[in-house]
Amino acid sequence: MAKEKTLDDLFYDTLKDIYYAERQILKALPKMARGAQSAELKAAFEKHKEQTQGQIERLQKVFEIIGKRAQGKTCEAIEGILAEGEEVMEEFKGTAALDAGLISAAQAVEHYEISRYGTLKTWAQTLGHKEAVKLLDATLQEEGQTDEDLTRLAVATSNKRAAKAA
Ligand SMILES: [Fe+2]
Ligand SMILES: [Fe+2]
Repeated sequence: MAKEKTLDDLFYDTLKDIYYAERQILKALPKMARGAQSAELKAAFEKHKEQTQGQIERLQKVFEIIGKRAQGKTCEAIEGILAEGEEVMEEFKGTAALDAGLISAAQAVEHYEISRYGTLKTWAQTLGHKEAVKLLDATLQEEGQTDEDLTRLAVATSNKRAAKAA
């Protein structure tokens, strides 16, 4: 008979998923910053790269709290989302629509993260890992703020530039 799996197992598995995802994102952000045309968007990606480094450290603390080794588990979802981002970069290179496309790709990443951290925070609450709840919530807030900042950039400049180009 299969060993009974519990919320602890789900929590650990999902932690490994987002740990893998964050490390892929950390590698992708400098490429996105290099690809971005506007200085503001470059700066936004650079800033989020720094935050992502801190988020990885928070995850290492959460692994510690549950007494497990920090390790990643291949996340097909983030690989697909990041591959789409690279596709946008190649296909829209040098065009007025590039930044709008990059923002849309980055927001898909943020939404994936928001979904994961939202779930992990709720599970940490159920499991009584109070310190983990705080760490996961801190990251959840950063991802939400990043998503909002990207929307602001898109609306303020990138979308208009993309729409006006003949
Ligand atoms: Fe993140
Ligand atoms: Fe993020």
